[in-house]
Amino acid sequence: MKLSIIGTGYVGSVTGICFADMGHQICFVDVDQIKLDAINSGKSPIYEPDLDNLLMKNRTKITTTTDIPEAVNQTDLTMICVGTPQKTDGSSDLRFINDAAYSIGKALADKDKKYHTVIVKSTVLPGTTSNVVKPVLERESGKEATVDFGIGANPEFLKEGNAVKDFFHTDRIVIGANDPKTKKTLEGLYKPLHAPIFTTNIKTAEMIKYVSNAFLATKISFSNEIGNLCKVNDIDSYEVFRGVSLDCRINPHFFRSGIGFGGSCFPKDVHALIAFAESQGIDTKILKAVIRTNDDQPQKLIALLKKHLDIRGKKIGILGLSFKPDTDDIRESRAIPVVQALLEEGAQILAYDPMAMPGFKTLFPRISYAKSSKEVLETDALMIITEWKEFFDIDYKGKIVIDGRKVNKARREADIYEGICW
Ligand code: UGA
Repeated sequence: MKLSIIGTGYVGSVTGICFADMGHQICFVDVDQIKLDAINSGKSPIYEPDLDNLLMKNRTKITTTTDIPEAVNQTDLTMICVGTPQKTDGSSDLRFINDAAYSIGKALADKDKKYHTVIVKSTVLPGTTSNVVKPVLERESGKEATVDFGIGANPEFLKEGNAVKDFFHTDRIVIGANDPKTKKTLEGLYKPLHAPIFTTNIKTAEMIKYVSNAFLATKISFSNEIGNLCKVNDIDSYEVFRGVSLDCRINPHFFRSGIGFGGSCFPKDVHALIAFAESQGIDTKILKAVIRTNDDQPQKLIALLKKHLDIRGKKIGILGLSFKPDTDDIRESRAIPVVQALLEEGAQILAYDPMAMPGFKTLFPRISYAKSSKEVLETDALMIITEWKEFFDIDYKGKIVIDGRKVNKARREADIYEGICW
């Protein structure tokens, strides 16, 4: 099949390159020529394990353009993979979705009779595909959805750092379509993955994505709340959840209590779901508590440090700046509130991260950055924010360590050790 992928961010790049590997022809579209140049030269615009290799392997099946109509004209199906940033009131900014729909609609107006399918892969609130994207497509094309062209939603469940594996070995594929032709097209596209396919209507598919992320975020905040309670009772929360999750009704994933969740998805999606509910007069007490607990965890880490050290004027080493290991992504990283609080308390900071320092420098240009994790050891106390593999090999002997991610070696070796939930 010939697919056009609009947006070469995280979702678009991974999806397009993986579909190319499945044998499809891919045309990437982006307003940013630099990202397209990267793709053309065999380099993925985002860092993701295995993605560059897969891109190199499938280069002959991949083209790029900045022109949406050109891409739509030469393909059978278009996937909208643009960003939906968070607005100040928590709701989603649909500017890029609207722009994409407008250009696709214009292109469909001129496209020959061949049936074209438009799929929204970006995370959008229930109703967006049918109430925002569809009317723009119909208005600009002068054609009717599900009669002259197909429309659907197909949310992604890719984790950063594991996205290629998640694409090829997913727990499930969710297809949202209100007409048989779009359903059949998407089911055919995913069939070779041999994964369970859950087909439903568009609105439900959109909701499934939010509920999945909101539930995972809830599990994390729940494990953090329980972890905080375990801590004061001298109980190891990890051991508790190992015991709890032997119950087959409770699976063991996403109970790693610690400093909380970050990233471009969980915080944004939970806020958007809260705003969506509130716009309909529904108070989401649980979701609000999920955010509150998450916001409190970094402050708890600071309080633990203060128990052992008068922070003012001291040099504090920060291990890890990305929102999780194996990525350079610092969006909503828990390192941000930690560093902010330390600066307010008058600390000097020496930070280290294997990948995320360039990004962090744009946010905090004035703090010091180390060349290696070893260099960070020359500080008055260490705070572990991200569980990068190399932090499990550091010599923590004689150090004060405040740990947000349960690095057991630090627990065994440090002179003074405090885990946030254990
Ligand atoms: C998340 C979801 O896991 C994906 O299924 C989804 O497709 C994606 O969002 C998205 O909406 O695009 P991602 O944000 O890449 O993926 O990262 P996760 O691995 O889920 O981790 C998110 C945050 O939760 C990280 O800060 C991580 O450290 C934290 N976390 C995760 C915990 O604190 N405890 C846990 O037990 C698990």
